[in-house]
Amino acid sequence: MKTKHVVDLTDLTHEELLSVIRLANRIRENPEAYAQACRGKILATLFYEPSTRTQMSFQTAMLRLGGRIIGFDNPQNSSVAKGESLKDTVTVVGGYADIIAIRHPSEGTAAAASMYSAAPIINAGDGGHLHPTQTLTDVVTLYNEMGTLENLTIGLCGDLKNGRTVHSLIKTMSTFKGNRFVLISTPELTIPQYIKDIIIASECSFTQVRSLAQAIPELDVLYMTRIQRERFGSEEEYQKQNGVFVLDKAKLKNAKKTMRILHPLPRVDEIDVEVDYDERAKYFEQTVYGMYGRMALIMTMLEKSDRTPAPRLRSTHPFSCSNPRCITQSEKYLPALFREAGGDMLLCRYCDSRTLI
Ligand code: NCD
Repeated sequence: MKTKHVVDLTDLTHEELLSVIRLANRIRENPEAYAQACRGKILATLFYEPSTRTQMSFQTAMLRLGGRIIGFDNPQNSSVAKGESLKDTVTVVGGYADIIAIRHPSEGTAAAASMYSAAPIINAGDGGHLHPTQTLTDVVTLYNEMGTLENLTIGLCGDLKNGRTVHSLIKTMSTFKGNRFVLISTPELTIPQYIKDIIIASECSFTQVRSLAQAIPELDVLYMTRIQRERFGSEEEYQKQNGVFVLDKAKLKNAKKTMRILHPLPRVDEIDVEVDYDERAKYFEQTVYGMYGRMALIMTMLEKSDRTPAPRLRSTHPFSCSNPRCITQSEKYLPALFREAGGDMLLCRYCDSRTLI
């Protein structure tokens, strides 16, 4: 694999991604053969934000490969509570561990961490931005359940604005040809413009709709998501969105027999429990595919023995990112890094937000 860090799954070429998926399948078929594959290696999980599945999935993945784990899931029990910067934490842990999985509420954190760590960084979720290993989970599931990653009509329903799993999944699936995204949300929770721009520039297409019932008959895949309560300004705003989309048996009547239902979990109430017993529901199998996907990713990333931290970067522009959720807002030493996006527009290289100059 060419890239040292995985901030998004699109950091991997198609060939690299497919080889990780195939390795995941080989491990699933014969786990004993890989039980010592990462013997002597240490994974650090730095979780600045709550998680059950992702953190345990990473830890189980490393333990099943014969490696060991360190880390925290409550930053208040670490030096972060004393005011330690992300840069210092990552520099130190990058010296201890062989590989780091990091989750943080601020967008762009994994990109920032990758600038200081000697050990490879895996983005385990950065605010509402990206979540590449959930996407790996999703594509391992699709590859096995659909037999292809191309020419699929994929409905994504729920919080498309704040759902990082949605952003990462669209980014990756729009690199495969012929996929069509049906974006099902309220007007308040539509997908960010930068994700639409990615689809427009690809060989895929999208439509935006407001009715799950109307969209369902044409879908090959339905990706349900929860409304991301923790990313709302107020409880009132959240309550307005909660419960708008619920997948139940009645709606499923009009779906294809071959449709697959995915969900990154945790589920709140957007999928009725009755649906769990429908053979199209794959969200629990998806978590198992995800563990094997993470095992394959860890193994592949550890093949590379590059432990040199990235060279120091200088600010590209004399501006700061205007996204209040960007990691550059709290970690002030980070250089301002932008890509020119035409006209007066800059794209932040940490969080992908647009800043007007
Ligand atoms: C997702 C996440 O953390 O973004 N969960 C996960 O990783 N399994 C989805 C979510 O929290 O809604």
